[in-house]
Amino acid sequence: VLTNSTVRKLHYKELQESLKQAGFDGRVLVMPDGEEFKSLESLGSGYDFLVKHKADRSSLLIALGGGVITDLGGMLAATYMRGIKLVHIPTTLLAQVDAGIGGKAAVNHTRAKNAIGCFYQPNLVMIDPTVLSTLNQREYLNGLAEVIKIALVADPSLFKFLKRNLRAIVERKVPYVTQTISQAVKKKLEITQKDPFERGLRKILNFGHTFGHALEAQKKFSRISHGEVVSLGMLVALQLSADLRIGNETTLTAVKELLEQGGLPTKIKKLDSKALWKIMYLDKKANSGRINFVLLKEIGKPIVKAGEYEQFRRACRVLS
Ligand SMILES: NC(=O)c1ccc[n+]([C@@H]2O[C@H](COP(=O)([O-])OP(=O)(O)OC[C@H]3O[C@@H](n4cnc5c(N)ncnc54)[C@H](O)[C@@H]3O)[C@@H](O)[C@H]2O)c1
Ligand SMILES: [Zn+2]
Repeated sequence: VLTNSTVRKLHYKELQESLKQAGFDGRVLVMPDGEEFKSLESLGSGYDFLVKHKADRSSLLIALGGGVITDLGGMLAATYMRGIKLVHIPTTLLAQVDAGIGGKAAVNHTRAKNAIGCFYQPNLVMIDPTVLSTLNQREYLNGLAEVIKIALVADPSLFKFLKRNLRAIVERKVPYVTQTISQAVKKKLEITQKDPFERGLRKILNFGHTFGHALEAQKKFSRISHGEVVSLGMLVALQLSADLRIGNETTLTAVKELLEQGGLPTKIKKLDSKALWKIMYLDKKANSGRINFVLLKEIGKPIVKAGEYEQFRRACRVLS
């Protein structure tokens, strides 16, 4: 079992007991907590651990934790002995609906996030919504932002469900959370099964992320969470959709309301659209002065379209 120090304290015991009952002789490797440990070094200590315990091709790795652990576990299982069995037990909402689903795994290079990675499908993903009770609200909202994203690009009925039940979902009432997760997972699976290696369709899952990643890359915004930048990024994409007459203001307003109700940000101060454009431009290796954005015709109808700086700059007004 691969986990981290936080999750070990909270949720490992239960897993350990059920493994024991099922006759498994489990060993646990506990990583320190943090994105900075999604590294080649941690991967190295993972291999050391597997070798030390004589893991072989019939061994099974269970990744118990958030997206950092499912990513690291995926890399370990994919490469050790050219691949061993992998079970994900994601324990953050983000890992349950996003990182643990779809078979992407990666570690960070010291200078480039997720630069070393692979596609490797787990044999099983086990999701227990009750483990989320120990998660802090900010981390929970990170996952909620991804759920809203999935609804917007692929599932109008999920969007309706969220609108109707957001309060219960934010308060983590288990039946509502369960329904939310199961619908979001179903959709993400549907998309990733059609395009497992991200050659086309799967790119719609980057909705809000081109802008979001650029904001994350700026030092002055380093304290904003992933869910928060995605929330802002989705609004810019929707404003751009409306401005280009691909989408409309009604969708934008509906999404803005939902994000506000959910406690996700819809405004930000000191935005520097020029600096953001430069980061996105480098990131996307764009040429001829345009960058591809995922836009929405309406909820559930995404389209990838190139935008120019001036259009982007104007769309950013939605956040002021
Ligand atoms: N592979 C993919 O497709 C994919 C998709 C999205 C994100 N990711 C990756 O996922 C990572 C982010 O994932 P994350 O948001 O889960 O972060 P994380 O794994 O760092 O978890 C967030 C925090 O919550 C703690 N935690 C986990 N489960 C908990 C629980 N049940 N109760 C209390 N605390 C708990 C963790 O210890 C950590 O401190 C990033 O590295 C990102 O690159 C990967
Ligand atoms: Zn994301």
